[in-house]
Amino acid sequence: MTNGLVIIGDHDVLARQACEIARLCGHLFSLCREMPVEAQRVIVALDDADARAEIVACLPRNQVVNLIHPRAFVSPDAELGINVLVGANAIIGSNARVGDGVIANALSSIEHDNVIGAYTFLGTGAILCGNVTTGERVFVGGGATVKPGTCVGAGTTLGAGAVLVKDADPDSVYVGNPARRLG
Ligand SMILES: CC(C)(COP(=O)(O)OP(=O)(O)OC[C@H]1O[C@@H](n2cnc3c(N)ncnc32)[C@H](O)[C@@H]1OP(=O)(O)O)[C@@H](O)C(=O)NCCC(=O)NCCS
Repeated sequence: MTNGLVIIGDHDVLARQACEIARLCGHLFSLCREMPVEAQRVIVALDDADARAEIVACLPRNQVVNLIHPRAFVSPDAELGINVLVGANAIIGSNARVGDGVIANALSSIEHDNVIGAYTFLGTGAILCGNVTTGERVFVGGGATVKPGTCVGAGTTLGAGAVLVKDADPDSVYVGNPARRLG
């Protein structure tokens, strides 16, 4: 057992997932709404990406940990930022660079040579093929697939099941196969 991991969150989906992974990893942890003064190691598990980012930005980087499900695969040469959460059977491939606060849900894949912007979210089963780049705070819906070498602009949402075959503009919503911009 390792001591003193604090999971900052409400009883929302992300916090529950973080608690489950922490338990499976053998951490002694507590779930708090606010940062206790004495905390040595912290992960911020608020569903809201902006709120997560705001709190992480106030913490010393060496205090913030990542939570990797024991059944996830993270390539030894992948680079992860801080406050990264990787779910069951998710994959982070070779030479991938994953920004702070990225959430890779169960069964999602961040393939080789991806560069993933901070606070990007991958829903269950989402697949980013090789050499994909995303800006910050991209939301990839469950089961969506992004073609190799494609860029997704910052703040963009890909709907559940979308198949993105061309670069996506920032701050936009794309759905369908092939994915088209909504609105
Ligand atoms: C893309 C998304 C964000 C759009 O939400 P929204 O803005 O509320 O959009 P609406 O539900 O009003 O739908 C707008 C149009 O897009 C279509 N649409 C919405 N989501 C779609 C999807 N995933 N695939 C295909 N079409 C979709 C709707 O049918 C509707 O079409 P219409 O105007 O012809 O009727 C949402 O539908 C979605 O897919 N969210 C992802 C959820 C998810 O995967 N969460 C992670 C779980 S782990």
